[in-house]
Amino acid sequence: MKKLVVLLAGMLMLAAPALALIDNSAHDLPTTIGGNETDEICVFCHTPHGANAAFTGGPLWNRNAAAGGLVGVYSSGTLNASIDSDYTKIDAAACLTCHDGSQVMGGAALRNPPNTTVTGNYAVQVNGSKMLDNNMNNDHPVNFSYDASDAADAEINSIANVLAIAGQPIKFGTTSTLNNVVQCSSCHDVHNTVGTDLIVINNAGSNLCRACHIK
Ligand code: HEC
Ligand code: HEC
Ligand code: HEC
Ligand code: HEC
Repeated sequence: MKKLVVLLAGMLMLAAPALALIDNSAHDLPTTIGGNETDEICVFCHTPHGANAAFTGGPLWNRNAAAGGLVGVYSSGTLNASIDSDYTKIDAAACLTCHDGSQVMGGAALRNPPNTTVTGNYAVQVNGSKMLDNNMNNDHPVNFSYDASDAADAEINSIANVLAIAGQPIKFGTTSTLNNVVQCSSCHDVHNTVGTDLIVINNAGSNLCRACHIK
């Protein structure tokens, strides 16, 4: 009987939900900093209390706005999109509290640090040095209506087709002024490793690009 109880307990443990996703991804940040200060994965970005309420695109955000701010909009001679420069409405301002090229992950950067304080000011680096800057004029446009671009350009796939092709890992945001906004998490899954670079669908053959662009 005792053996049976032990066996059942073991089976229940096996039946626990799989904890994959963010673990061991590029955003498993305790691992990135060597795991010697905290093992709390979420705390580098989210906090249950004392969050940055200005960042409506970054839920319960545990970081302050970057000092230099986030500036610029993408423009070109062929762009139809009308871009909203208030990036706090989507996830971009939140991502750039780390990825603007000048940020650190720990220390005073966290509004509500874990109880084992992260004292080291670990620089945010991707593959050694590759980083974005705080100007959005040299990046793929974000914070505009996908529907409006689709209506203006026959070579933009309909949103229904995009979601069907991609099996819906591409996420369009909603803000107070725009529906179906293109944002960072349209192309990246901040919590998951699907392909390299946290891309939502494998970009072999530029499949990610061609989910939206009929080229
Ligand atoms: C590197 C930063 C980062 C880390 C680490 C992180 N998140 Fe997030 N999270 C974000 C961003 C940015 C968004 C908003 C964009 C989006 O929806 O993907 C978000 C959205 C969310 C949302 C709301 C949208 C949704 O997907 O349901 C939840 C819930 C969430 N995170 C929970 C967590 C939990 C729990 C952890 C730890 C296991 C975690 N996050 C770790 C950055 C992060
Ligand atoms: C239209 C799709 C798309 C959007 C939108 C997008 N990215 Fe990316 N991103 C990519 C692709 C594809 C790569 C990998 C290729 C490369 O290295 O540039 C990448 C790479 C990156 C990298 C790795 C460093 C690098 O340059 O390789 C970071 C960091 C990053 N993106 C952050 C962001 C942030 C923050 C946003 C929102 C402001 C964003 N991305 C919006 C497609 C996108
Ligand atoms: C708390 C700081 C932090 C935030 C916030 C954050 N990142 Fe990162 N991100 C990092 C660090 C650090 C790395 C590099 C990890 C490494 O090289 O091991 C990274 C790596 C990446 C990479 C490269 C992944 C790879 O495979 O090399 C992409 C893409 C990326 N982040 C996109 C985003 C996007 C998009 C957001 C917002 C939705 C975001 N990040 C928010 C800290 C952050
Ligand atoms: C989530 C859908 C989506 C994905 C994925 C995507 N794009 Fe875009 N992209 C758009 C939309 C919508 C526009 C705005 C087009 C417009 O309004 O003229 C745009 C704009 C652009 C522009 C600027 C067009 C101009 O006229 O200035 C280029 C170039 C571009 N994308 C290339 C890429 C590449 C390369 C990739 C893959 C790395 C990619 N896109 C992935 C939706 C997407």
